[in-house]
Amino acid sequence: MKVLLVTTALAIVCQAAGQYDGSRYLWYQSAGTDFHSGLPIGNGRIGALVYGSNKENILLNENSIWSGPFQDRLNPNSLSALPRIRSLLQSGDITEAGRSTLTNMVGTNTNPRMYNPLGYLTLDFGHSSGISSYTRWLDTQQGNAGVSYIYGGVNYTREYTASYPHGVFAIGLRAGSSGKINVTIGMNRAQYVNSQTASRSSAGSRMAGSGSVKLAGNSGQSSGAIMFWSEARVVNDGGTVSSDGKVISVTGANSVDIFFDVETNYRYTSQAAAEAEIKRKLDVAVNAGYDAVKNAALADSTNLLGRVSLDLGKSAATAADQPTNARISAYKNRPDDDVQFATLMFNYGRHLLVASSRKTDSKSLPANLQGIWNEGFNPAWGSKYTTNINVEMNYWPANPTNLAETHEALFDLLDIARVRGQKAAQSMYGCSGFVFHHNIDVWGDPAPTDKGTPYTMWPMGGAWLTLHLMEQYRFTGNKTFLQQRVWPVLQDAAKFYYCYLFMHDGYYQTGPSLSPENPFKVPSNMKTAGAEEGIDIGPTMDNSILFELFSAVIETCNVLGINGTDLTQAQSYLAKIKTPQISTSGAIMEWRNDYAETDKGHRHLSPLFGLHPGTQMSPLKSAALANAAKKFLDRRVSGGSGSTGWSRTWLMNCYARLFLGDNVWSHAQNFLKTYPLANMLNSNSGPPFQIDGNFGYTSAIAEMLLQSHAGVVHLLPALPSALGTGSVNGLVARGNFVVDISWSGGKLITAVIESNLGGPLALRIQGGAAFTVNGSPYLSPIQTVVGSTYTIARAI
Ligand SMILES: *[C@@H]1O[C@H](CO)[C@@H](O)[C@H](O)[C@H]1NC(C)=O
Ligand SMILES: *[C@@H]1O[C@H](CO)[C@@H](O)[C@H](O)[C@H]1NC(C)=O
Ligand SMILES: *[C@@H]1O[C@H](CO)[C@@H](O)[C@H](O)[C@H]1NC(C)=O
Ligand SMILES: *[C@@H]1O[C@H](CO)[C@@H](O)[C@H](O)[C@H]1NC(C)=O
Repeated sequence: MKVLLVTTALAIVCQAAGQYDGSRYLWYQSAGTDFHSGLPIGNGRIGALVYGSNKENILLNENSIWSGPFQDRLNPNSLSALPRIRSLLQSGDITEAGRSTLTNMVGTNTNPRMYNPLGYLTLDFGHSSGISSYTRWLDTQQGNAGVSYIYGGVNYTREYTASYPHGVFAIGLRAGSSGKINVTIGMNRAQYVNSQTASRSSAGSRMAGSGSVKLAGNSGQSSGAIMFWSEARVVNDGGTVSSDGKVISVTGANSVDIFFDVETNYRYTSQAAAEAEIKRKLDVAVNAGYDAVKNAALADSTNLLGRVSLDLGKSAATAADQPTNARISAYKNRPDDDVQFATLMFNYGRHLLVASSRKTDSKSLPANLQGIWNEGFNPAWGSKYTTNINVEMNYWPANPTNLAETHEALFDLLDIARVRGQKAAQSMYGCSGFVFHHNIDVWGDPAPTDKGTPYTMWPMGGAWLTLHLMEQYRFTGNKTFLQQRVWPVLQDAAKFYYCYLFMHDGYYQTGPSLSPENPFKVPSNMKTAGAEEGIDIGPTMDNSILFELFSAVIETCNVLGINGTDLTQAQSYLAKIKTPQISTSGAIMEWRNDYAETDKGHRHLSPLFGLHPGTQMSPLKSAALANAAKKFLDRRVSGGSGSTGWSRTWLMNCYARLFLGDNVWSHAQNFLKTYPLANMLNSNSGPPFQIDGNFGYTSAIAEMLLQSHAGVVHLLPALPSALGTGSVNGLVARGNFVVDISWSGGKLITAVIESNLGGPLALRIQGGAAFTVNGSPYLSPIQTVVGSTYTIARAI
């Protein structure tokens, strides 16, 4: 029996070889068994993790289902404690300053709300033993997933579609012969279920479907809980339908379609309004039918996903033809055999972003620590929006990989959180403007989170997120967006720091603050020598964020013709922000003093903000800072940094910005060997899953091939020597240039750049080599014409 199974499996490998493009599909010959092997799809709001088993248990999520209502956690002692804490910091008593900060400034309750699951949609087909030719797949170019297998001589298929245009999740069940589909459909949830019902439609009208399953929940979880209502509408062709009040059973159908929606009182003020929206969406979807819903969904997702195509070369022999789980195992020992696995991971990152982050309404929500896929009521780190690296990393690939639309969900949450952040600025610091600390939740709760000196008291989360708005402008060049969306937030962010920063050592500085999440040893000339502390004045990261923030204000004033105090104040503050300091060892200094770090291989690379995502340490701007950044980076790596998937991909982005392609590639291979779970979601070298590493990886591959942050569109800035021949189409550079590049023998062959804006185009190619534009030698920036293309070739 065992032998027979093995033979069958081998036969399928041969049959399936080449069927699934190894740069595009994840596919498997068995069902997923747990969260780490289910396949994630989504429409930017509803997430589904599909296991594909014969008793299917689809994990469903909705991005506004969180563990409770808004909490005002602001500590009323903050403002009065602040002056003493600052003078303690200035006098060198870091330990007492930290103690007082934890006592007086941290949130009155240390935890924001957590992201929670909706529940499960169950499909029982009554198929047990005797299944063969099983395949399960996810298409990273279309964003859908499916299952097929033979049972009782019949080919059964299931297709899963998360539709952005229709706002629903849909499933199509098909069989190779008529009348062969039996399925029992139900929903369940482990906790806080308010009602769980199923009913057969008496009308039998196609509009209403033949039955529906409903699940509502969350009241009872907390007072003022976020409540949800959900419904799966079932439409069968042929066969009979029955219901016991809990589940719907369909017997002997030719086909069955299921349409699902869920709405919450985060977006709708009453149960009636939420249910009306569910009815509206499901009526439209049911009326259109599965094929129309699917076609619209795939047209929408392929419009986004199809904008970029990447070719890093072909894998050896049949390495890329294996099922994904076999590739993941094989890659650990023979990474050089399967370069297409690196391409697949890039494509998967873009799929995950499109699936987890879309503008869905005025209260869209961005991808959190797990995107939108979460099965736990108490997930790792609450599956929040962590603002000291993780939520920002989620959006690093958005603009460069031509997915600007996905960025918009982040800006909606920023609008909501900014109002909260204004209260925090007043209450904690007596300042106007707004502030977030190192986490926010679905309500934009900006109060300090947790209680520890290395991470809690960091007042820079709002400034960093504001820079994402500015980047959206720089990539799209949309001046209306700059005026209407960016400028008010930028002004408000700057306003906070004009009040909050204090003069120390001749500079405007932050404090109490920290270098996320790295503690240091207090030196012998400070109190209490040898203690391990986190809180201090003016860490390098804060200064680099402030440099970018005030620079963005000045840039915006220039673009919009603003020249009052908005401009002069930003200029005078910028002049008094400390530039990154270099220690006696030659590396970028992490803190205001050259403290000894307690963890030489710390996972955060905060002091290199000026390298990535910032601009200060670019080799094109300052060789001295770039060299010091490299020293810092190399030291972190030799100390063991990259210990989580997201940390590893952060290293990749930094090495790309230093134009060190071989380093990028070795960390890329390390990432691919170490961190992907069976479903290729990023982990911290084993669960828990954290999505930032997937996005950081995709960003770094783009940074390796195209950069534009330092005032020049730079083609192949960090091409690894291992990637001799390849091409990329559709990446975007600041100034709204769409860039196609091909290379061979490790050298640029041609690039075609389309100008969507008609602005000036400054260019550089790998290593600063000479090149031509439309046949003429490039000497200085070109004034481009909207819609025109420019062909770049390496000078011979
Ligand atoms: C079953 O049908 C699907 C969809 O047409 C097809 O992709 C798959 O190869 C078929 N399976 C077998 C074993 O023929
Ligand atoms: C479907 O269910 C009916 C009733 O239980 C059973 O007779 C039939 O064999 C089932 N068909 C399949 C294809 O499983
Ligand atoms: C530019 O931004 C405005 C304001 O956000 C928006 O309404 C408009 O659609 C954008 N234009 C383009 C071409 O995206
Ligand atoms: C602002 O700029 C405009 C046009 O460049 C100029 O006419 C005006 O005098 C300037 N205002 C100030 C306050 O400098």
